[in-house]
Amino acid sequence: MSMPGWALVTGASSGIGEQFARALARRKQNLILTARSRGKLEALARELQQTYDIQAEPLPCDLSVEGAGGFLARSVLEGGREISLLINNAGFGARGEFWVLPLERQMEMIRLHLAALIELSHYFLPSMIGRRGAGIINVSSMTGFQPIPYVAVYAATKNFITSFSLALTEELRPYGVRVVTLCPGGTRTNFVIEGSRAGRGRFPGSGMAAKEVVAQALAKLDSGGGLVVPGFANQIGVFIERFVPRPCVPWAVAKMSRPGK
Ligand SMILES: NC(=O)c1ccc[n+]([C@@H]2O[C@H](COP(=O)([O-])OP(=O)(O)OC[C@H]3O[C@@H](n4cnc5c(N)ncnc54)[C@H](OP(=O)(O)O)[C@@H]3O)[C@@H](O)[C@H]2O)c1
Repeated sequence: MSMPGWALVTGASSGIGEQFARALARRKQNLILTARSRGKLEALARELQQTYDIQAEPLPCDLSVEGAGGFLARSVLEGGREISLLINNAGFGARGEFWVLPLERQMEMIRLHLAALIELSHYFLPSMIGRRGAGIINVSSMTGFQPIPYVAVYAATKNFITSFSLALTEELRPYGVRVVTLCPGGTRTNFVIEGSRAGRGRFPGSGMAAKEVVAQALAKLDSGGGLVVPGFANQIGVFIERFVPRPCVPWAVAKMSRPGK
């Protein structure tokens, strides 16, 4: 189901974001594609335009810079393009002891995962309210259900995204704006957790295909929005966690993943 207006995808140069762009292009959705890698965005936009006869515009931007989300949103709106679907997907991971990891890199993560997501949502929502088929997809993570030692800031940003996004789902329901909170487990992309040893740089778990993760998120959008945990094993994991006392998961993870182990 294509929507009038444009879909804006952050982190569209690779992985889950690229698969969102491809799936939406197949639905004949016009796209604004953003990430830092100008060349990859331009090549993807060209390919999607030619293949699906849509408009696809690359808009390179480093969303970890202070105020970048607002800057990007204003330039889209000033260009007269109305966003009907916003996909907040861009992200990266960093593993290590919080007090040892460089502060600036952790602040970049907070600005990318949180400030940019909040800014883009706040700027675009006024024109989404009451608009047929409008929606937001926020890409969180399985790590967004609990505190996780040694990826403490990453997991905390994903906890924030999950909480914020589930709250927005209900706030926006009366206005017809659908919100999807996507919490993938391990997904086969270029995602690397900085600071991980070789072979441990990716999330453990089922290693789902990004295309399948995206298909489940778009199906949830089509059915009115809500929480998506792709993969049966991941769903079981989230269900069981509900019955485990809150300190237990961080305690167990800290034992298993202490640096040097
Ligand atoms: N893969 C997994 O196992 C997994 C599991 C759970 C959740 N997730 C979440 O899924 C989302 C997408 O990750 P992915 O797996 O698709 O990884 P990916 O292939 O590494 O893609 C990450 C995307 O974010 C963009 N990005 C990174 N830093 C940026 C910045 N400062 N400004 C703008 N864009 C930036 C990257 O583009 P540039 O480098 O061109 O900027 C890239 O397009 C992330 O939010 C991640 O936390 C992934």
